[in-house]
Amino acid sequence: MAGIIVVGAQWGDEGKGKATDLIAGKMDYVARYNGGSNAGHTVVVGDQTYALRLMPSGIVNPGVTAVIGNGVALDPKELVEEKASLEQRGVDTSHLLISLSAQVTTGYHRYLDRVSESHLGKRKIGTTGRGIGPTYADKINRIGIRVADLFDEKAVTAKVEQNLALKNELLTKIYGAEPLDAHKVVDELLTYGEQLRPYAADTSLVLNKALDEGKNVLFEGGQATMLDIDHGTYPFVTSSNPTAGGACTGTGVGPTKITRVVGVSKAYTTRVGAGPFPTELFDESGQWLRDRGHEYGVVTKRPRRTGWFDALVVRYAVRVNGLTDLVITKLDTLTGLKKIPVCVAYDITDHDGSVRRVTELPVDQGLFDSAKPVYEELDGWDENITGITDFDRLPAAAQTYVRRLEELAGCRISLVGNGPQRDHVIRLHPLVD
Ligand code: GDP
Ligand code: IMO
Ligand code: MG
Repeated sequence: MAGIIVVGAQWGDEGKGKATDLIAGKMDYVARYNGGSNAGHTVVVGDQTYALRLMPSGIVNPGVTAVIGNGVALDPKELVEEKASLEQRGVDTSHLLISLSAQVTTGYHRYLDRVSESHLGKRKIGTTGRGIGPTYADKINRIGIRVADLFDEKAVTAKVEQNLALKNELLTKIYGAEPLDAHKVVDELLTYGEQLRPYAADTSLVLNKALDEGKNVLFEGGQATMLDIDHGTYPFVTSSNPTAGGACTGTGVGPTKITRVVGVSKAYTTRVGAGPFPTELFDESGQWLRDRGHEYGVVTKRPRRTGWFDALVVRYAVRVNGLTDLVITKLDTLTGLKKIPVCVAYDITDHDGSVRRVTELPVDQGLFDSAKPVYEELDGWDENITGITDFDRLPAAAQTYVRRLEELAGCRISLVGNGPQRDHVIRLHPLVD
């Protein structure tokens, strides 16, 4: 039995899709546990590139059952469309299971997401506009619609009517926006819901039975540690728990079934949307990283903000997730740099104006905002490293770079990615026993 969590160790887009795909070959189930269609997970198989959003990355692996857990914000319209587009490309999506208790994202959540962002003006979060925040807000307010409701016309109609009565007041009177028609929302939910009905199941029961029978389950996180609603750079975060604990609450599997927690980090750092990012680069090196790493969003196509590797962020991810292994991706992107700075401390300005050097991430967001990175410079390399599978064949400077990241993060590095393809990887330790 293996219960493996794959979690982002930075601000998202670390290569979780690829890491999941690399492990999925040995898995029976791959379960998404949080987030929704705000995620964009890339899996490259030969000449085919799949950008998965709600679908667990395991779906492209024929032997794997893909599960959407109760912790996911499920947009039925998006899922039906994504499923159809995968089918069109020859991917069998019949091995899909959807939790009956997953929260449903509706048209009014998507609309409210966009309207409330523009209302925030300069303080906006820079969300993906996929209705994620409003869906989780309704969940916590106990007025959310769950997948099981989609199969009960009376229940869904009553909930939508009741919710829109209030939300339309908010939309028209506070936001100055147009009201929404409850019947249209209900029709959309019932139509798409009917198409998803064959896949709905008690997925907690399925996953627990599978683990009890000795099967292997991978828990795939959307977003990342620094976007976590509790542990991230609040309020510039998503509205769910991408951190490892979220895998348990988001699937109904207890922590005693988890055997590994694998964090994924780039060999540098990127972020999409607003919020603090101490190692962000605003000069030509930032643009160089963006160009070399093709750093543009999978979902929104926004240019990603880029910066150097931040050891405080990744060490924090090691701690709050209890990581057992790290996957470092995109080492190949750094090829050609003479020197590579790595952030090893911050100088932060305290509330009284004094400056302090810290090596742990400040939890007080006011202090985090003031963080100025302190760098250590490592040597770069010029040789093309894409596709090298033997660590010892990497240029000495690249080996030193990886070993230094391992030391600073305080967690062993088990895989190193050096290209987008499945076989562009160096395996240092097996991730499945
Ligand atoms: P995710 O959201 O964490 O799954 O990551 P994304 O798919 O949003 O972004 C990661 C990008 O990096 C994708 O375009 C991947 O194909 C690509 N990628 C992943 N690992 C590597 C790697 O080791 N080298 C290179 N060059 N690209 C990689
Ligand atoms: P994957 O799974 C990177 C960011 C948004 C915004 C904040 C809140 O591909 O790593 P939301 O729409 O969730 O309310 O937006 O979170 N964000 C992501 N950034 N990768 C993602 O997913 C993200 N999902 C959300 O840019 O700053
Ligand atoms: Mg992504």
